[in-house]
Amino acid sequence: MIRHLPHNALARKRLHLGVCGSVAAYKAVEIMRLLQKAGLDISVCLTQAATRFISPLTFSSLGANPVYTRMFNDNGENTFAHLEPGRQAEALLIAPASATTLARLAHGLADDLLAAQALAFNGPLLLAPAMNPNMWSHPATRHNVKILRKRGVIFVAPESGRVACGDEGEGKLASLPEIVLAAAKALLPQDMAGIKILLTLGPTWERWDGVRIWTNPSSGRMGAALAVCAHLRGAEVFALAGPGVPDLPHQAHRIDVASARQMFDAASDLWPQMDTGLFCAAVADFSPSPFGPTKYKKNGNDTELNIRFLPNPDILATLARHSRPDQKILGFAAETDNLENNARAKLKSKGMGLMAANLLNVTDSGFACANNTLFVCDCRGREEKWPPMLKSDAAWRLLDWLLTL
Ligand code: C5P
Repeated sequence: MIRHLPHNALARKRLHLGVCGSVAAYKAVEIMRLLQKAGLDISVCLTQAATRFISPLTFSSLGANPVYTRMFNDNGENTFAHLEPGRQAEALLIAPASATTLARLAHGLADDLLAAQALAFNGPLLLAPAMNPNMWSHPATRHNVKILRKRGVIFVAPESGRVACGDEGEGKLASLPEIVLAAAKALLPQDMAGIKILLTLGPTWERWDGVRIWTNPSSGRMGAALAVCAHLRGAEVFALAGPGVPDLPHQAHRIDVASARQMFDAASDLWPQMDTGLFCAAVADFSPSPFGPTKYKKNGNDTELNIRFLPNPDILATLARHSRPDQKILGFAAETDNLENNARAKLKSKGMGLMAANLLNVTDSGFACANNTLFVCDCRGREEKWPPMLKSDAAWRLLDWLLTL
């Protein structure tokens, strides 16, 4: 999921990472690396307890700048260490956040550097707690969490499981992709808040006997990038995922389907409640008329196998015909030749607002690769040829364009 973060939209944004004393403190290093990989600049503050678990040098060696550990130092330098993150960073993430730090933040204490930095921070504050399940469920902690939530603090809730001391229960640090995604969301504009999006993605599987299928090599990667970007911008995503589609944000409503017919039925049910449709799936245009529920057996004398194909419903074209004027549609075209003319023709014939077309038979484009090279055109006659770029950056730009339709 992390590979679908929109690098261009996040590049050069600054996040301050607070690390508390917890066995999970080592995971903060990986969180920092993932955020840096997405293009963020990171500063770090370790509480005194955190420095017992992990060295500040680990963070500075990996590019955190600056790395804070104490409020006062002997030579009196940097008297404003408690104010700097508030002036420079756009979000403050504390991961792992200990019970003590939650208590300090809930009650406005500033008796250690991280708590003072948090008190002087006006931007979004995210907390990913990690602690023993008894500490997490204690009424004092519950009360502190309630106070903080009420104040608008974003929690990435801990998971249930076996914690370091061997106890079982809720208190394990949330998964790193979930923490990183929440941090990215806090840094990005929420310009799709309240928008309901129907997304189709991945391939479809059309059965032709009890065990064999007719399909294509779509990986769902472009669609997953759209799901992540739309979620990061605040949209509510309803994803109809063909087989093999990777993880999507868990806040997305994911419905797994196999055949074009199943995808069509699910899409038709959802469409009236949606504001926008992103039709990214590589839907099989035809389905083999099945031989039956068992495995087709070859006959020793066969010289050929004839399979009859019947057309599948065109999901996009059908829903576009039944759409309201306020519903926006982005469609895709994967072509092997005559890219621009085919794209313009499909834009019109299928009735979409925005069309993104790519060639399949070139590098940096098409099925299963990290990049895409798109020709984009819309119903108002605007056209652009984009250079090769990460699918996540292309997804972000397509959503930008969609918002202007
Ligand atoms: O396959 P074709 O090039 O016509 O696909 C163009 C667009 O139509 C894509 O956005 C694809 O997801 C959508 N489509 C569909 N249902 C089909 C075939 C294509 O929604 N049966």
